[in-house]
Amino acid sequence: MRTRTLKFLTSLALISILTSAAKNHQTKDDKGLKDYYRKYFPIGVAVRPSDLQSVESQLILKEFNSITPENAMKMGPIHPRENRYNWRDADSIVSFAVRNKLKVRGHTLCWHAQTPSWLFTDSAGNNVSKEVLLQRLKSHILAVAGRYKGKVYAWDVVNEVIADGNDFIRKSKWTEIAGEEFIAKAFEYAHEADPNAVLFYNDYNTEIASKREKIYRLLKGLKEKGVPVQGVGLQAHWSVSSPSREELEESITKFASLGLQIQFTELDISVYAGRQGGQLIQNQQRQQQESQFTSEMEQKQLEKYKMVFDVFRKHRKHITGVTFWNVSDKYSWLDGRGRKNFPLLFDQNLQRKKAYAEVVEF
Ligand code: G3I
Repeated sequence: MRTRTLKFLTSLALISILTSAAKNHQTKDDKGLKDYYRKYFPIGVAVRPSDLQSVESQLILKEFNSITPENAMKMGPIHPRENRYNWRDADSIVSFAVRNKLKVRGHTLCWHAQTPSWLFTDSAGNNVSKEVLLQRLKSHILAVAGRYKGKVYAWDVVNEVIADGNDFIRKSKWTEIAGEEFIAKAFEYAHEADPNAVLFYNDYNTEIASKREKIYRLLKGLKEKGVPVQGVGLQAHWSVSSPSREELEESITKFASLGLQIQFTELDISVYAGRQGGQLIQNQQRQQQESQFTSEMEQKQLEKYKMVFDVFRKHRKHITGVTFWNVSDKYSWLDGRGRKNFPLLFDQNLQRKKAYAEVVEF
Protein backbone atom coordinates (compact mmCIF):
# COMPACT_ATOMS: atom_id res chain seq x y z
CA MET A 1 0.00 0.00 0.00
CA ARG A 2 2.72 2.41 1.09
CA THR A 3 4.71 1.68 -2.13
CA ARG A 4 1.68 2.42 -4.31
CA THR A 5 1.01 5.70 -2.48
CA LEU A 6 4.65 6.65 -2.80
CA LYS A 7 4.59 5.93 -6.53
CA PHE A 8 1.38 7.95 -6.92
CA LEU A 9 2.79 10.97 -5.10
CA THR A 10 6.04 10.74 -7.08
CA SER A 11 4.05 10.71 -10.33
CA LEU A 12 2.06 13.75 -9.20
CA ALA A 13 5.23 15.63 -8.36
CA LEU A 14 6.73 14.73 -11.73
CA ILE A 15 3.64 15.92 -13.61
CA SER A 16 3.69 19.18 -11.72
CA ILE A 17 7.38 19.76 -12.51
CA LEU A 18 6.90 18.95 -16.20
CA THR A 19 3.85 21.22 -16.45
CA SER A 20 5.69 24.09 -14.86
CA ALA A 21 8.71 23.55 -17.11
CA ALA A 22 6.47 23.52 -20.18
CA LYS A 23 4.90 26.81 -19.16
CA ASN A 24 8.30 28.40 -18.59
CA HIS A 25 9.82 26.99 -21.71
CA GLN A 26 8.21 29.19 -24.35
CA THR A 27 9.37 28.26 -27.79
CA LYS A 28 10.95 31.04 -29.78
CA ASP A 29 7.79 31.36 -31.85
CA ASP A 30 5.61 31.84 -28.79
CA LYS A 31 7.71 34.67 -27.43
CA GLY A 32 6.98 38.29 -28.22
CA LEU A 33 8.95 41.46 -27.54
CA LYS A 34 7.48 41.63 -24.04
CA ASP A 35 8.82 38.16 -23.24
CA TYR A 36 12.33 38.86 -24.47
CA TYR A 37 12.39 42.02 -22.36
CA ARG A 38 10.48 40.75 -19.33
CA LYS A 39 13.59 41.16 -17.16
CA TYR A 40 14.31 44.61 -18.57
CA PHE A 41 11.23 46.84 -18.97
CA PRO A 42 7.68 46.77 -20.38
CA ILE A 43 7.38 47.02 -24.16
CA GLY A 44 4.41 49.14 -25.23
CA VAL A 45 2.64 50.41 -28.31
CA ALA A 46 0.44 53.40 -29.15
CA VAL A 47 -2.97 52.28 -30.31
CA ARG A 48 -6.19 53.52 -31.89
CA PRO A 49 -9.51 51.99 -30.82
CA SER A 50 -9.76 50.34 -34.25
CA ASP A 51 -6.49 48.48 -33.63
CA LEU A 52 -8.19 46.63 -30.77
CA GLN A 53 -11.08 45.39 -32.86
CA SER A 54 -8.99 44.11 -35.76
CA VAL A 55 -6.22 41.68 -36.58
CA GLU A 56 -3.76 44.09 -34.97
CA SER A 57 -5.14 43.10 -31.57
CA GLN A 58 -3.58 39.62 -31.84
CA LEU A 59 -0.18 41.13 -32.61
CA ILE A 60 -0.59 43.63 -29.77
CA LEU A 61 -1.35 40.88 -27.25
CA LYS A 62 1.51 38.69 -28.45
CA GLU A 63 4.20 41.36 -28.58
CA PHE A 64 3.35 44.04 -26.01
CA ASN A 65 2.43 44.39 -22.33
CA SER A 66 1.64 48.10 -22.31
CA ILE A 67 -0.50 50.38 -24.47
CA THR A 68 -0.83 54.13 -24.95
CA PRO A 69 -3.90 55.76 -26.55
CA GLU A 70 -2.46 57.51 -29.63
CA ASN A 71 -5.11 60.26 -29.53
CA ALA A 72 -8.08 59.19 -27.42
CA MET A 73 -6.99 60.80 -24.15
CA LYS A 74 -5.79 64.10 -25.59
CA MET A 75 -7.73 67.21 -24.56
CA GLY A 76 -9.42 67.80 -27.90
CA PRO A 77 -10.72 64.28 -28.49
CA ILE A 78 -11.74 63.60 -24.87
CA HIS A 79 -12.98 67.05 -23.80
CA PRO A 80 -14.16 68.90 -26.90
CA ARG A 81 -16.40 71.33 -25.04
CA GLU A 82 -16.34 72.60 -21.48
CA ASN A 83 -19.27 70.47 -20.37
CA ARG A 84 -18.77 67.56 -22.75
CA TYR A 85 -16.43 64.58 -22.34
CA ASN A 86 -16.06 61.84 -24.96
CA TRP A 87 -15.07 58.82 -22.85
CA ARG A 88 -15.92 56.11 -25.35
CA ASP A 89 -12.58 55.69 -27.16
CA ALA A 90 -10.42 56.06 -24.09
CA ASP A 91 -12.71 53.72 -22.12
CA SER A 92 -12.49 51.08 -24.87
CA ILE A 93 -8.70 51.19 -24.81
CA VAL A 94 -8.51 51.03 -21.01
CA SER A 95 -11.08 48.21 -20.88
CA PHE A 96 -9.03 46.24 -23.43
CA ALA A 97 -5.96 46.72 -21.25
CA VAL A 98 -7.73 45.69 -18.05
CA ARG A 99 -9.23 42.59 -19.71
CA ASN A 100 -5.82 41.58 -21.04
CA LYS A 101 -3.74 42.67 -18.05
CA LEU A 102 -1.79 45.27 -19.99
CA LYS A 103 -0.31 48.43 -18.48
CA VAL A 104 -1.66 51.76 -19.73
CA ARG A 105 0.30 54.98 -20.24
CA GLY A 106 -2.00 58.00 -20.29
CA HIS A 107 -1.22 60.53 -23.02
CA THR A 108 -1.49 63.54 -22.52
CA LEU A 109 -3.04 65.87 -19.96
CA CYS A 110 -1.59 69.19 -21.14
CA TRP A 111 -0.27 70.01 -24.61
CA HIS A 112 -0.20 72.94 -27.02
CA ALA A 113 -1.60 70.77 -29.85
CA GLN A 114 -4.98 69.04 -30.15
CA THR A 115 -6.24 71.37 -27.43
CA PRO A 116 -9.80 72.68 -27.82
CA SER A 117 -10.12 76.43 -28.23
CA TRP A 118 -12.87 76.73 -25.60
CA LEU A 119 -10.23 76.23 -22.93
CA PHE A 120 -8.67 79.62 -23.56
CA THR A 121 -11.64 81.85 -24.35
CA ASP A 122 -14.63 83.30 -22.56
CA SER A 123 -18.16 83.58 -23.96
CA ALA A 124 -17.19 86.82 -25.73
CA GLY A 125 -14.26 85.08 -27.41
CA ASN A 126 -11.65 86.90 -25.36
CA ASN A 127 -8.80 85.21 -23.53
CA VAL A 128 -9.85 84.02 -20.10
CA SER A 129 -7.80 85.00 -17.05
CA LYS A 130 -4.90 82.91 -15.77
CA GLU A 131 -7.05 81.86 -12.79
CA VAL A 132 -9.87 80.65 -15.03
CA LEU A 133 -7.48 78.78 -17.33
CA LEU A 134 -5.77 77.05 -14.41
CA GLN A 135 -9.15 76.13 -12.93
CA ARG A 136 -10.20 74.64 -16.29
CA LEU A 137 -6.92 72.71 -16.50
CA LYS A 138 -7.47 71.42 -12.96
CA SER A 139 -11.02 70.32 -13.69
CA HIS A 140 -9.85 68.53 -16.85
CA ILE A 141 -7.02 66.71 -15.13
CA LEU A 142 -9.06 65.73 -12.06
CA ALA A 143 -11.79 64.38 -14.35
CA VAL A 144 -9.55 62.44 -16.75
CA ALA A 145 -6.80 61.21 -14.42
CA GLY A 146 -9.46 60.61 -11.76
CA ARG A 147 -11.55 58.46 -14.10
CA TYR A 148 -8.63 56.16 -14.87
CA LYS A 149 -7.15 56.15 -11.37
CA GLY A 150 -5.62 52.76 -10.68
CA LYS A 151 -5.87 51.76 -14.36
CA VAL A 152 -3.41 54.21 -15.93
CA TYR A 153 -0.09 53.64 -14.18
CA ALA A 154 1.79 56.52 -15.81
CA TRP A 155 0.78 59.86 -17.33
CA ASP A 156 2.44 62.11 -19.85
CA VAL A 157 1.24 65.06 -17.81
CA VAL A 158 2.86 67.84 -19.85
CA ASN A 159 3.91 67.35 -23.46
CA GLU A 160 6.44 69.30 -25.55
CA VAL A 161 6.62 72.67 -23.75
CA ILE A 162 10.32 73.18 -24.57
CA ALA A 163 10.83 75.34 -27.67
CA ASP A 164 12.73 74.00 -30.67
CA GLY A 165 14.36 77.34 -31.47
CA ASN A 166 16.18 79.76 -29.20
CA ASP A 167 13.32 80.26 -26.73
CA PHE A 168 13.28 78.25 -23.53
CA ILE A 169 9.56 77.55 -23.24
CA ARG A 170 7.43 77.12 -26.37
CA LYS A 171 5.12 80.07 -26.92
CA SER A 172 1.48 78.95 -26.86
CA LYS A 173 -1.95 79.98 -25.60
CA TRP A 174 -0.87 78.41 -22.33
CA THR A 175 2.11 80.74 -21.89
CA GLU A 176 0.23 83.72 -23.32
CA ILE A 177 -2.37 83.45 -20.55
CA ALA A 178 -0.67 81.63 -17.68
CA GLY A 179 3.04 82.16 -18.20
CA GLU A 180 5.05 79.06 -17.20
CA GLU A 181 3.05 78.35 -14.04
CA PHE A 182 0.70 75.94 -15.83
CA ILE A 183 3.52 73.41 -16.11
CA ALA A 184 4.01 72.84 -12.37
CA LYS A 185 0.26 73.17 -11.77
CA ALA A 186 -0.48 70.38 -14.23
CA PHE A 187 1.76 68.00 -12.29
CA GLU A 188 0.23 69.06 -8.98
CA TYR A 189 -3.30 68.49 -10.30
CA ALA A 190 -2.33 65.08 -11.73
CA HIS A 191 -0.79 64.03 -8.41
CA GLU A 192 -3.95 65.13 -6.61
CA ALA A 193 -6.08 63.11 -9.05
CA ASP A 194 -4.01 59.94 -8.76
CA PRO A 195 -1.23 59.98 -6.13
CA ASN A 196 0.00 56.55 -7.26
CA ALA A 197 0.42 57.37 -10.94
CA VAL A 198 3.97 57.95 -12.20
CA LEU A 199 4.07 61.46 -13.68
CA PHE A 200 6.15 62.17 -16.78
CA TYR A 201 7.27 65.18 -18.73
CA ASN A 202 7.32 64.09 -22.41
CA ASP A 203 9.21 65.62 -25.33
CA TYR A 204 10.94 64.93 -28.66
CA ASN A 205 14.38 65.58 -30.16
CA THR A 206 15.75 65.07 -26.65
CA GLU A 207 19.07 63.88 -28.13
CA ILE A 208 19.78 67.31 -29.64
CA ALA A 209 22.20 68.79 -27.10
CA SER A 210 20.64 72.28 -27.01
CA LYS A 211 17.13 70.93 -26.49
CA ARG A 212 18.33 68.31 -24.02
CA GLU A 213 19.90 71.09 -21.91
CA LYS A 214 16.69 73.10 -21.86
CA ILE A 215 14.62 70.06 -20.85
CA TYR A 216 17.16 69.29 -18.15
CA ARG A 217 16.90 72.89 -16.89
CA LEU A 218 13.09 72.69 -16.78
CA LEU A 219 13.05 69.36 -14.94
CA LYS A 220 15.79 70.34 -12.49
CA GLY A 221 13.79 73.45 -11.63
CA LEU A 222 10.57 71.48 -11.13
CA LYS A 223 12.32 68.94 -8.93
CA GLU A 224 13.93 71.68 -6.84
CA LYS A 225 10.50 73.22 -6.25
CA GLY A 226 9.15 69.86 -5.10
CA VAL A 227 6.85 69.51 -8.10
CA PRO A 228 5.68 65.84 -8.31
CA VAL A 229 7.40 64.83 -11.57
CA GLN A 230 8.90 61.34 -11.44
CA GLY A 231 9.88 60.61 -15.02
CA VAL A 232 10.90 61.95 -18.37
CA GLY A 233 9.45 60.59 -21.59
CA LEU A 234 11.96 60.68 -24.43
CA GLN A 235 9.68 60.28 -27.43
CA ALA A 236 12.32 58.66 -29.67
CA HIS A 237 10.91 59.71 -33.03
CA TRP A 238 14.21 58.85 -34.63
CA SER A 239 15.48 58.09 -38.13
CA VAL A 240 18.09 56.02 -39.88
CA SER A 241 20.50 58.93 -39.47
CA SER A 242 19.90 59.95 -35.84
CA PRO A 243 20.54 59.79 -32.96
CA SER A 244 24.11 58.59 -32.54
CA ARG A 245 24.92 56.17 -29.75
CA GLU A 246 26.79 58.96 -27.96
CA GLU A 247 23.81 61.35 -28.17
CA LEU A 248 21.48 58.67 -26.84
CA GLU A 249 23.72 57.67 -23.96
CA GLU A 250 24.23 61.31 -22.98
CA SER A 251 20.48 61.83 -22.77
CA ILE A 252 19.99 58.78 -20.59
CA THR A 253 22.77 59.64 -18.15
CA LYS A 254 21.83 63.33 -18.07
CA PHE A 255 18.20 62.77 -17.13
CA ALA A 256 18.96 59.83 -14.87
CA SER A 257 21.21 62.18 -12.87
CA LEU A 258 18.03 63.99 -11.80
CA GLY A 259 16.72 60.78 -10.26
CA LEU A 260 13.98 60.56 -12.89
CA GLN A 261 12.64 57.37 -14.42
CA ILE A 262 13.32 57.31 -18.16
CA GLN A 263 10.89 55.93 -20.70
CA PHE A 264 11.13 55.93 -24.47
CA THR A 265 7.52 56.76 -25.15
CA GLU A 266 6.99 57.04 -28.93
CA LEU A 267 9.67 54.97 -30.63
CA ASP A 268 9.81 54.76 -34.40
CA ILE A 269 12.75 54.92 -36.80
CA SER A 270 11.92 56.75 -40.00
CA VAL A 271 13.58 55.31 -43.10
CA TYR A 272 14.26 58.86 -44.30
CA ALA A 273 17.30 60.60 -42.86
CA GLY A 274 16.95 63.67 -40.69
CA ARG A 275 15.31 64.56 -37.42
CA GLN A 276 11.55 64.21 -37.71
CA GLY A 277 10.77 65.68 -34.32
CA GLY A 278 7.42 65.51 -32.63
CA GLN A 279 5.26 66.93 -35.32
CA LEU A 280 5.15 66.32 -39.00
CA ILE A 281 6.63 69.43 -40.53
CA GLN A 282 3.38 71.16 -41.36
CA ASN A 283 2.53 71.62 -45.01
CA GLN A 284 5.93 70.46 -46.05
CA GLN A 285 5.54 70.01 -49.76
CA ARG A 286 7.41 66.98 -50.99
CA GLN A 287 7.78 65.71 -54.46
CA GLN A 288 6.02 62.37 -54.77
CA GLN A 289 8.82 60.29 -53.35
CA GLU A 290 9.70 56.68 -53.83
CA SER A 291 7.48 54.85 -51.36
CA GLN A 292 9.24 51.51 -51.45
CA PHE A 293 10.95 49.96 -48.44
CA THR A 294 14.29 49.39 -50.13
CA SER A 295 16.95 46.95 -48.91
CA GLU A 296 19.21 49.92 -48.24
CA MET A 297 16.56 51.46 -45.99
CA GLU A 298 16.10 48.10 -44.28
CA GLN A 299 19.80 47.68 -43.56
CA LYS A 300 20.19 51.17 -42.13
CA GLN A 301 17.02 50.80 -40.05
CA LEU A 302 17.97 47.46 -38.55
CA GLU A 303 21.39 48.81 -37.62
CA LYS A 304 19.74 51.73 -35.82
CA TYR A 305 17.23 49.47 -34.03
CA LYS A 306 20.10 47.20 -32.97
CA MET A 307 22.06 50.12 -31.59
CA VAL A 308 19.23 51.72 -29.63
CA PHE A 309 18.17 48.46 -27.99
CA ASP A 310 21.80 47.64 -27.13
CA VAL A 311 21.88 51.01 -25.36
CA PHE A 312 18.48 50.48 -23.71
CA ARG A 313 19.64 47.16 -22.24
CA LYS A 314 22.94 48.65 -21.10
CA HIS A 315 21.09 51.40 -19.19
CA ARG A 316 18.19 49.21 -18.03
CA LYS A 317 18.45 50.40 -14.45
CA HIS A 318 17.25 53.87 -15.50
CA ILE A 319 14.66 52.76 -18.06
CA THR A 320 11.14 51.73 -17.01
CA GLY A 321 9.48 51.39 -20.39
CA VAL A 322 9.86 51.43 -24.16
CA THR A 323 6.78 52.16 -26.24
CA PHE A 324 6.52 52.07 -30.04
CA TRP A 325 4.39 54.71 -31.74
CA ASN A 326 1.88 52.74 -33.83
CA VAL A 327 1.69 49.01 -34.37
CA SER A 328 3.09 48.30 -37.84
CA ASP A 329 4.15 49.87 -41.14
CA LYS A 330 0.53 49.44 -42.25
CA TYR A 331 -0.15 52.78 -40.55
CA SER A 332 2.25 55.34 -39.13
CA TRP A 333 1.66 58.94 -38.14
CA LEU A 334 4.69 59.59 -40.36
CA ASP A 335 2.78 58.61 -43.49
CA GLY A 336 1.42 61.36 -45.67
CA ARG A 337 2.57 64.44 -47.46
CA GLY A 338 3.69 62.55 -50.50
CA ARG A 339 5.46 59.54 -49.06
CA LYS A 340 4.94 56.33 -47.15
CA ASN A 341 7.18 55.54 -44.19
CA PHE A 342 8.22 52.16 -42.80
CA PRO A 343 9.37 53.04 -39.25
CA LEU A 344 8.35 50.01 -37.15
CA LEU A 345 9.30 46.39 -36.48
CA PHE A 346 6.31 44.89 -38.28
CA ASP A 347 5.63 45.26 -42.00
CA GLN A 348 2.38 46.16 -43.72
CA ASN A 349 1.23 42.55 -43.38
CA LEU A 350 2.00 42.61 -39.66
CA GLN A 351 4.99 40.29 -40.20
CA ARG A 352 8.23 40.71 -38.28
CA LYS A 353 10.86 42.62 -40.24
CA LYS A 354 14.58 41.79 -40.14
CA ALA A 355 15.03 44.55 -37.55
CA TYR A 356 12.91 42.49 -35.13
CA ALA A 357 15.64 39.85 -34.87
CA GLU A 358 18.21 42.57 -34.13
CA VAL A 359 16.06 43.68 -31.19
CA VAL A 360 15.39 40.28 -29.64
CA GLU A 361 18.65 38.39 -30.29
CA PHE A 362 20.95 39.30 -27.42
O1 G3I B 1 -10.43 62.42 -35.46
C1 G3I B 1 -10.38 63.39 -36.53
C2 G3I B 1 -11.38 63.03 -37.60
O2 G3I B 1 -12.69 63.14 -37.06
C3 G3I B 1 -11.20 63.96 -38.80
O3 G3I B 1 -12.07 63.55 -39.82
C4 G3I B 1 -9.75 63.86 -39.27
C5 G3I B 1 -9.47 64.73 -40.48
O4 G3I B 1 -9.33 66.07 -40.05
O5 G3I B 1 -8.87 64.29 -38.21
C6 G3I B 1 -8.98 63.38 -37.11
O6 G3I B 1 -8.12 63.81 -36.10
C7 G3I B 1 -6.73 63.58 -36.41
C8 G3I B 1 -6.16 62.69 -35.30
O7 G3I B 1 -4.74 62.53 -35.49
C9 G3I B 1 -6.81 61.31 -35.25
O8 G3I B 1 -6.55 60.66 -36.46
C10 G3I B 1 -6.02 64.93 -36.40
O9 G3I B 1 -6.47 65.68 -37.52
C11 G3I B 1 -4.51 64.72 -36.51
O10 G3I B 1 -3.84 65.95 -36.35
C12 G3I B 1 -4.07 63.79 -35.39
O11 G3I B 1 -2.68 63.55 -35.57
C13 G3I B 1 -2.07 63.03 -34.39
C14 G3I B 1 -0.97 64.03 -33.95
O12 G3I B 1 -0.30 63.50 -32.80
C15 G3I B 1 -1.58 65.35 -33.58
O13 G3I B 1 -0.57 66.29 -33.58
C16 G3I B 1 -1.41 61.70 -34.72
O14 G3I B 1 -2.42 60.72 -35.00
C17 G3I B 1 -0.58 61.23 -33.54
O15 G3I B 1 0.17 60.07 -33.89
C18 G3I B 1 0.40 62.31 -33.13
O16 G3I B 1 1.07 61.86 -31.99
C19 G3I B 1 2.00 62.81 -31.41
C20 G3I B 1 1.98 62.61 -29.92
O17 G3I B 1 0.68 62.77 -29.43
C21 G3I B 1 2.96 63.55 -29.25
N1 G3I B 1 4.31 63.36 -29.80
C22 G3I B 1 4.37 63.52 -31.24
C23 G3I B 1 3.42 62.55 -31.93
C24 G3I B 1 3.52 62.66 -33.43
O18 G3I B 1 3.08 63.93 -33.85
